[in-house]
Amino acid sequence: MQHPNSNDVIFDLSPVKQMLTQTASLRGGLIPVLQQIQEYYGYLPENALEAVASVLGVPLTEVYGVATFYKQFRLKPAGRFVIMVCDGTACHVNGSSDILQTLSEELGIDDGETTEDRFFTIQSVACLGCCSLSPAMMINGETYGNLTKEKVLSIIAAIRENAS
Ligand code: FES
Repeated sequence: MQHPNSNDVIFDLSPVKQMLTQTASLRGGLIPVLQQIQEYYGYLPENALEAVASVLGVPLTEVYGVATFYKQFRLKPAGRFVIMVCDGTACHVNGSSDILQTLSEELGIDDGETTEDRFFTIQSVACLGCCSLSPAMMINGETYGNLTKEKVLSIIAAIRENAS
């Protein structure tokens, strides 16, 4: 499925309806539907959640309840650079909390938030699958390992410089 351009996000709900018809009849269909919507739009737009509630015949509060309960779901668009900070066991033992704190302080946002300029999003995640590099993070698909506070700050500085 192709990703929409930004203009489509607000107005074109036909992909949501298509996902609903495919998934709604499945048991426990709400979570897979929300996963598909997020995969398509990059987050869960408010009007998409309203469509889900209406088509599935469940209260909107229930849809929001699920969307806010699970960390995997995002209610706002992500930033241009999504920083996935691993908090799996190996990374946790090797200081992922310090990595997360360094990023939070440098970017002025908490885990799960996006900077006002929509440049960075921080998202803590379970194992990234590269435990030998712990602590590790992934930014837009690129893995960075054996992180230290200094290394994290220089990676962020390099991204800012290259993107400006
Ligand atoms: S625990 Fe972090 S990559 Fe596996």
